[in-house]
Amino acid sequence: MAAPWWRDAVIYQVYVRSFADANGDGIGDLAGVRAKLPYLAELGVDALWFTPWYASPLADGGYDVADYRRIDPAFGTLAEAEALIAEAHRTGLRIIVDIVPNHVSDQHVWFQEALAAAPGSEARNLFWFRPGRGSGGELPPNDWTSEFGGPAWTRVPDPDGKPGEWYLHLFAAEQPDLNWDNPKVAEEHESVLRFWFDRGVDGVRIDSATMPAKDPRLPDFDRRHPPTPHPYVDRDAVHAIYRGWRAVADGYPEPRALIGEVWLDRPDRLAAYLRPDEMHTAFNFDYLNCPWDAARLRAVIDGTLDSHRPVGAAATWVLSNHDVTRHATRYGRADTAMGRSPAQHGAPVDLALGTRRARAAILLSLALPGSTYLYQGEELGLPEVRDIPDAFRQDPYFFRTHGADIGRDGCRVPLPWSGSTAPYGFSPTEIEPWLPQPADWAQYSVAAQDQAPDSMLTLYRTALHLRRTQPALGDGPMNWLKSDPHVLAFTRGTEFSCLVNLSDTPAPLPADSAVLLTSAPLDEDLLPPDTAVWLHGT
Ligand code: GLC
Ligand code: CA
Repeated sequence: MAAPWWRDAVIYQVYVRSFADANGDGIGDLAGVRAKLPYLAELGVDALWFTPWYASPLADGGYDVADYRRIDPAFGTLAEAEALIAEAHRTGLRIIVDIVPNHVSDQHVWFQEALAAAPGSEARNLFWFRPGRGSGGELPPNDWTSEFGGPAWTRVPDPDGKPGEWYLHLFAAEQPDLNWDNPKVAEEHESVLRFWFDRGVDGVRIDSATMPAKDPRLPDFDRRHPPTPHPYVDRDAVHAIYRGWRAVADGYPEPRALIGEVWLDRPDRLAAYLRPDEMHTAFNFDYLNCPWDAARLRAVIDGTLDSHRPVGAAATWVLSNHDVTRHATRYGRADTAMGRSPAQHGAPVDLALGTRRARAAILLSLALPGSTYLYQGEELGLPEVRDIPDAFRQDPYFFRTHGADIGRDGCRVPLPWSGSTAPYGFSPTEIEPWLPQPADWAQYSVAAQDQAPDSMLTLYRTALHLRRTQPALGDGPMNWLKSDPHVLAFTRGTEFSCLVNLSDTPAPLPADSAVLLTSAPLDEDLLPPDTAVWLHGT
């Protein structure tokens, strides 16, 4: 029997707002995505993951959901989403939607009802409302801080207008945390899952998956030395949520996939989310965050496979997403790991080097066992936009840290499709998109790269199509070949091998092998630095 699709799929992340704008208001929309389905099919991906497309005031790019059963009016309608799902399926693309269990928007009806209700009411018990500390309740209930910076509590007036309780928000103030100890919360989310599974959605990406379960005592803690168990990250109780979701997913004749956003530095704790009755896969952030260094990469690859093996889950490989600096930029600076400290953000970038490494990195990712996630625009080699004027910035990280964290807007700039000036075919009109595009992005447009043999787009297309013809790729075993420590070299099956040269000198290729694809031209018969090759033969 063929392995389930999620074990080796290539999944393309669509950040709807920045993908393609069909109606000319400068904001990407579902009609825009629908028009580009042929592009995505031709690219050669298997599935699309949509970041939240629900009704939202967009305080956090849609991760503040006001209504899961409605599409944000800027993106379209529910009928359009249904049509998009159906057409994607006809095109051979599966659909994954984003579910955010930890919080909702402050505009969600539940939160609005909670604000209107009295302290201690059933409506407030869907969230974490608490009286403040200090003589007049003027201090937050504990010392927790928001992921985005600043306190994790906001005080609200009582229904009579007097200063009242505080509510917990681990992210922005517009994202109140749900109380998963209240069974209504689980009931509602399972109903939302069914709502989308009934509409043909093939899987869900689970946002901030380690955070919904809280220590109900809400104790203070020192963020630099968090106690174990942590009061809200990776508590054992969180697993019950996903067991419930798995039962829902497995209730369909074609079981639906659960994909976790699980940021944890303990591989064994991450693997616990992938037990046979929980999620199917999780993003590999260790890989995303790994510096461009052969020994470190090899350790992450081995560590990933070792931790996934006992639970029987397939690994995933991720280089970029909507939360991190684009990897063409990361790989071009001295510190190639993730991170947006002022030193990292302001560091000099050698974009030619970063791009060269990005080309090698995608061949590595696609050759490793398991599935791969692509973030829209990486197939065009887009760099991080580092000079967005402050007036355009939207990310709560930027505002809540007063600019100390530049935020994630630079990886969310609308895609260039064609033409020589902004909006580069993103919108059908001359309107300025919601985030400005750089003046030199014509070179990155799909039209500019479409027929160019050396373009990033051509490399992605070629690699994705070749991957489908190589039975040993995707799920299955890999074996390391003996190699220079600065070269990653491994086989998949008996006919395929991949080499990546992370040293600064050319490396020899194995004898008796034929080149299938290289990320850059070979140097005679040597593999140049920062280059990957796929070979037929081992
Ligand atoms: C996840 C999302 C991120 C969002 C956060 C809060 O990390 O990927 O974009 O800001 O959750 O929902
Ligand atoms: Ca639009």
